[in-house]
Amino acid sequence: MNLVPRHLRRSVSLLLVLTVMIAAMAIPSWAAPEPQIVGGEQVAKGSYKFIVSVQLRVGGSEWMHWCGGTILDKKHILTAAHCGYNGGVPIQASNIRVWVGSVKLADKKSGFYVNAKDLIVNPTYNPSTQKNDAMIILLSKRIKKAKTISVVGSGSTDYQTPGYPLTTAGWGSTVQYDAGEIVPPNYPRVMRDVVVNVVSDSQCESEYGVLYASQICAAAPGKDSCQGDSGGPLFTKVGDTWIQVGIVSTGAGCADPEYAGIYTRISDPEISAFIAENTP
Ligand code: ARG
Repeated sequence: MNLVPRHLRRSVSLLLVLTVMIAAMAIPSWAAPEPQIVGGEQVAKGSYKFIVSVQLRVGGSEWMHWCGGTILDKKHILTAAHCGYNGGVPIQASNIRVWVGSVKLADKKSGFYVNAKDLIVNPTYNPSTQKNDAMIILLSKRIKKAKTISVVGSGSTDYQTPGYPLTTAGWGSTVQYDAGEIVPPNYPRVMRDVVVNVVSDSQCESEYGVLYASQICAAAPGKDSCQGDSGGPLFTKVGDTWIQVGIVSTGAGCADPEYAGIYTRISDPEISAFIAENTP
């Protein structure tokens, strides 16, 4: 059975051919061999509703995906402190909004925007070393029926033993590159996720030379978070509860076999205290 009226069939098939051609053109050749976050896969519709896209105003009414973030409660988003700066300059709250409810950016049928009212940068954050990379976004209005994530407790070592598998997810670049390499990023419209394993502090410290107590590393061959994933979570599910262990912070390259991804360690007492004090 053909439901397309006869007089439209020709234009429909033309449209199909055109769509296929444009789709083929849209996939850059350098991205093709990647299993396409790096090494991850697209998440199903309705997944991870506690993850938001933190967006930056780039002109009057023009916005772009900037970072990831997580919903702690109806009014508070957890993200990375470095997401509150643009070229070293603090960003004003009026230039930040979050995309909530959908894994597909800009799809107004499934998600919505909420403006920021205030950006609370962790006062112990050091922009030159990325130590204590955490920020809370206070929203201008409450998210009704918010899906939230719980944070791991202060001083807890749960889910942090070397080798422990944790998930990270976001709208960051899907392109692998080694430290020092320069390759064009590729940003997906639909969220992707990947499983990485906790790397021991000593291993990570030997890779980078320095590692702060408030950092935790994770890696897996060909898999990593990447630019644009910052501020998003490193997390797990226990029973029916989502638990956040880290915040995507920094790293050399993306899925460089010699360098793990670095995440802010939420169980660090300074990070836990910052979150507790600012989520009344
Ligand atoms: N700093 C990056 C951002 O702003 C995140 C980098 C994560 N890198 C990594 N290799 N895991 O999005």
